[in-house]
Amino acid sequence: MPKVLGFATFIVLAVTVSNTMAADFPDFASLPSRPELPDPLVMLDGSKVTTAADWNTKRKPELKALFQHYMYGYLPPKPQKWTVEEVSFSDDAFLDGKATLSESRLAFFGPELKHRLHVLLVLPNKRSGPAPVFVGMNFCGNHALASHPQIHIPESWVYKSCAGSENERATAKGRGAQADVWNLDLIIERGYGLACFYSGDLDPDTADFSDGIEPAFYKPGQTAPTPTDPGAIATWAWGYHRVVDFLVEKHAQAIDVNRIAAVGHSRNGKTTLLAAALDERIALAIPHQAGCGGTAPDRVAIDRKDVETIRRINTVFPHWFCDNFPLFNEAPDKLPFDQHCLLALCAPRPVLYSNAVEDQWANPDGQFEMLKGADPVYRLLGSTGLEAKEKPELSKLLNGKLGYYIRPGKHSMDREDWGVFLDYADKQLGSGKR
Ligand code: GCU
Repeated sequence: MPKVLGFATFIVLAVTVSNTMAADFPDFASLPSRPELPDPLVMLDGSKVTTAADWNTKRKPELKALFQHYMYGYLPPKPQKWTVEEVSFSDDAFLDGKATLSESRLAFFGPELKHRLHVLLVLPNKRSGPAPVFVGMNFCGNHALASHPQIHIPESWVYKSCAGSENERATAKGRGAQADVWNLDLIIERGYGLACFYSGDLDPDTADFSDGIEPAFYKPGQTAPTPTDPGAIATWAWGYHRVVDFLVEKHAQAIDVNRIAAVGHSRNGKTTLLAAALDERIALAIPHQAGCGGTAPDRVAIDRKDVETIRRINTVFPHWFCDNFPLFNEAPDKLPFDQHCLLALCAPRPVLYSNAVEDQWANPDGQFEMLKGADPVYRLLGSTGLEAKEKPELSKLLNGKLGYYIRPGKHSMDREDWGVFLDYADKQLGSGKR
């Protein structure tokens, strides 16, 4: 069989397998209550997974489909066609000549799709080989990362809380306002690159899907999402995948395609974990302070007020997940998985859960339990997994395949966090300066 035909057949089979599985998934009423954490190494039909081959060919596809079916919605397909429509600028004198900053406008095309995404790319000028690179999604627009006058300012909705936001639109006053969140100088100094995009380029974080790309994937005649259509987090994860396409297909000379790391804070961290779980081109993931709906367990007592519950998240952010997910608001114990299974989908790749003491809302203790829960899958695949039984001391990085870090302070992403992310990536992927 010619190679191309073989690959096409594989894609058709893969899509058919996941659709057949989804059609077989029980409806909410038929799901049993399972107050304990579901075993990641037991299939939905109760059969045990004892080999890496069974994990890879049976349980992994099943879990990917389960998460999309009941929680996040199915990610849209890769666009039929995409192009770099324009490289709007490229400045090799950035950071006193230590880095090249450029921005590219990607355009995606499909039967109903015509959409644009701006990707800001910063790469070290001095490098001995292709640079490892982080892919990140930002909250306020690419222009917030550096006060460079040529970076695109989003035209779409932005959060009121973003510096320079006027009537929920970004302005030039926000240029460079998040420089201390992204710390480009530090990333460059350590030999890494960063490719960054704004979530609102794909779907602004409002309850309204009509301003995002989702409707471009509706079936003819469809006017609203079905229960398994993607929520915002799945759409944003699709964005991470498109930026990985961009790096792999257009920048394979400059960047190391085997050392692509994904990073994101909070809701963007939930997205980071989902993106990594569904795309093995992502070699390492740092879902920073992600919490409920990402790194923290779904199974928490529904009346807890100290940590976020799925009832609370679905009430306050009804557009983040698919419409099947709120069915579990009062019964998280009926979910056929918990978030350790999403983490297990990243195995044996390194994943760091980083947290802050004053950010109990993100349930840092529960997150450590998720690392424990994913460990058997890492071990089955021959990885060292979680190398501790207890959380590490404050500000001490547990630098293993399943990594953990908790520092004093609040819900934020700062320079100290980036120092830790880079130490983690250096050990797990090989130094940025090797
Ligand atoms: C809220 C939300 C969290 C989310 C956070 C953020 O606090 O409840 O789930 O992680 O916003 O994205 O900053």
